[in-house]
Amino acid sequence: MKSLIIYAHPWDGSFNNHVLKEVEKSLVKQEKEVTIIDLNKEGFNPVLTKEDLKVFSQGKYHDKLAASYAEKLKVADELILIFPIWWYGEPAILKGFYDKVFLKGHAYELVGYDLKGLLNNIKNATIITTASIDKKIFSYLGDPIKNTLAGGVLKMIGIENYNWIHCATVHLETARHEFIKEIKNYFK
Ligand SMILES: Cc1cc2nc3c(=O)[nH]c(=O)nc-3n(C[C@H](O)[C@H](O)[C@H](O)COP(=O)(O)O)c2cc1C
Repeated sequence: MKSLIIYAHPWDGSFNNHVLKEVEKSLVKQEKEVTIIDLNKEGFNPVLTKEDLKVFSQGKYHDKLAASYAEKLKVADELILIFPIWWYGEPAILKGFYDKVFLKGHAYELVGYDLKGLLNNIKNATIITTASIDKKIFSYLGDPIKNTLAGGVLKMIGIENYNWIHCATVHLETARHEFIKEIKNYFK
């Protein structure tokens, strides 16, 4: 079983980094083969440039790192996204990952006017987020994680099943402690 983690946080001392380590530990314990894409550490440029766009409609990559990420997605059985909520959604580096990696012929194909996901080798996605706000506030705002990320982006590339685990009031030590317990339990 191949688990692919996409991690988007720039600081090793962060709570998200602690979550990443716990998730990795739990997956290894389950004897899964774990690959981590650490977007910040790997120096991924999330900006889709003129050069990227020139070959975008042909489903080609100008950015070699983006091309290598696409190959990692094609052999994964499960996907785990770990990131802090910044302005009610993903850090820009993760948004840029969707823009630059999920290309036609790799992540989806066009069937008439519809998109058909090609990454259905990935049977399940787990979205792990941290923020001050709780899931209720997200729902007042149209539920961007559930509707846009899971119901839009992931569904369009062929990933139908997902779970969203969220740590609210992340600034509280008690919330962080409980969340690590929840993570350990989820990946048991
Ligand atoms: C640029 C930026 C934007 C943020 N936007 C939000 C937000 O929209 N809602 C929220 O509850 N917290 C927001 N936060 C707080 C982060 O979610 C919080 O600091 C993070 O989840 C804590 O985890 P960490 O210690 O791993 O960084 C924001 C923080 C930053 C730096």
